[in-house]
Formats: sequence, C-alpha cells, structure tokens
Amino acid sequence: MPSGSVQAAAGPDRRPSPGGDRPLLVVSGLGFTVGGETILAGIDFSVDAGEFVCVLGPSGCGKTTLLRLIGGLLRPSRGEVRIAGADPARQWRQVAYVFQSARLCGWRTAAQNVALGLELRDPSVPRAERLRRAEEYLRLVQLEDRRDRYPATLSGGEAQRVALARALAVESPILLMDEPFANLDVRTRRHLRRALLDVWKITGRTILFVTHDLDEALILADRIIVLSDRPTRVRRVVTVDVPRPRDPADPALEPIRSLLLADLTGGRRAAGDEDGAAGEPGLTGAAPGLPAAPAGRGDGERDGQP
Ligand SMILES: Nc1ncnc2c1ncn2[C@@H]1O[C@H](COP(=O)(O)OP(=O)(O)O)[C@@H](O)[C@H]1O
Ligand SMILES: [Mg+2]
Repeated sequence: MPSGSVQAAAGPDRRPSPGGDRPLLVVSGLGFTVGGETILAGIDFSVDAGEFVCVLGPSGCGKTTLLRLIGGLLRPSRGEVRIAGADPARQWRQVAYVFQSARLCGWRTAAQNVALGLELRDPSVPRAERLRRAEEYLRLVQLEDRRDRYPATLSGGEAQRVALARALAVESPILLMDEPFANLDVRTRRHLRRALLDVWKITGRTILFVTHDLDEALILADRIIVLSDRPTRVRRVVTVDVPRPRDPADPALEPIRSLLLADLTGGRRAAGDEDGAAGEPGLTGAAPGLPAAPAGRGDGERDGQP
C-alpha cells in the first residue's frame, strides 16, 4: 500500500476537522478578459483547509485559466484570489501545481525531475532527503523502475505521473491539479485516483482538482463546483456526501450525477427541453447542498471507472 511510506514521511493524519478553519482559499468576483473576450465573468467560491474540491466544466470554459489565476501565474482582470489571506504571488510556497502537460526537464532523470520541485522550493533540504522523497513518490505513482530514465524515453502517461510525483513531493499544503489523469489508461487512472485520495487523507492537504469528467469528480470530491459555458460563472456547488472509496455505479451518486449532467449538457439540449438551460438565473451562483434532481437525465457519457 503506497500510503504506508507516505505516512512515514508525512506523519500521522493531519487532516483538519472539516470547517474548523476559515477558508484557506477564497476566490471573489474573479474575472478574466483577454483579447476583448471575457473568459471568466465573475467567479466566487472558497475552499476550506483539508477539503478536496473538484472544479467541473466543459472544455474551453476557462478551467485552466481559473487554476492559473489561483496559482498566481496570471493576473485577474477583476476580483481577487486570496490564499491564507494573501495574494497568490506571495504564497507560492503554499502551492504545488500539476499542469495539463508534464513539463519535465529533458536533461534530468525521472527521479531528478521529481526532486527538482523540492530543490527549487526549499534548497535547505539535503540532496539525500530530496532523492529519498523522489523515490518514495515515484513508488506511489508506480514508476520506481523508471527512476533513471530521461523524459524522452518515457511515454506521455509516464511523464505525467512523474509530474504528479514532483508536485506531491514538495508536500505543500495546497495542490492545484489541472486534469492530471486525462491522458492515462483506465487502470493507471484508477490507481492514481486511489493513491491521491490516500495522500490527501493522510497528509491533510487541500486539493483543487480541475476536470471535465463528471465521474472523476463524483469519485474524488467533497464538493463539486460546476462552471457554466463562457462567459463563465459558477453554475452550482454540490456537496458529495457519500463515503469513500466510491463506486461510480453506486446508486447514492445517481441523483448528483443526473443533476450535474443536466448542467453540463444544459446549453446543448434539444428544442422543447426547457428546464435548466445555461444562463437560467436559478442555476447561476453557488447553491450549497443538493437541490432536487431533474427527472430523466441519465444519458450522458461516462467512463464508468473509478
Ligand atoms: N492567454 C490567452 N489568450 C487568448 N485566449 C486565451 C488565453 N488563455 C485562454 N484563452 C482562451 O480562453 C478559453 C478558456 O481556456 P482554458 O482556460 O484553457 O479552458 P479549459 O481549461 O476549460 O478547457 C479558451 O477559449 C482559450 O482559447
Ligand atoms: Mg484546460
């Protein structure tokens, strides 16, 4: 079980009691306009310390843009992001980022790439400790046998797993993850989702995980923030109050799935299908909890795998 070694490195369960702290991350009135086009039209939500929150939205709605704003890699056009009360540009030590693509250093081995994040973050950590941690997290993503390989000799999925290990190895309180499992095969994805949940549970990190995959969000999240089409707003916030590990086929998840599927397909429904279309005022803004599900919405895509 990979969590054993992580536990040894990270200490006992450090998850804060839910809701015990003020929000660690606050996004308020966040807007982003580029080239005259408004991508984000005013996003509001907050994330408590220790929460696992998924941001779910259609391709092109601005999920990556949102994550980059939160990570301080972009400046907002309007509104603000606060991490522990401060500007993200000043809180970079608090945050590790998993990009949509691996972004590895070509001249470093897999283990050296994993150690690099830690090296940049905290040069006082001795080299031996950096490499020990690199190996530990490479084990977690099941790549210990690739430790001495250079990126050019790794598959795309392997490179992405190295990037995940690199982000986990810095052991920052906040993890921002941009569709990190989107390009992986079903079995690897399933393993990594479990491994990530283990790490989260043991170490008490706060995770903001972007995905366009509804089942992925249902498997992982404490709460799901659903984004609209552009110009993008928060369409709905749903709490997933189902114990983990979750099976996407669990009937307990079905009402939430139906509801969110309707949100995600709302703008593209057939004529005559009038409830809950994109832009409907009742669906705009954060609505905590789970409103009643509309009937008969079980017809979307799902990969069906945890
Ligand atoms: N720097 C930029 N310049 C121009 N357009 C951009 C820029 N960043 C993002 N966009 C546009 O914003 C939209 C949202 O992009 P993105 O955040 O990558 O969406 P998602 O991650 O949800 O698929 C896209 O139409 C993209 O082309
Ligand atoms: Mg994206």
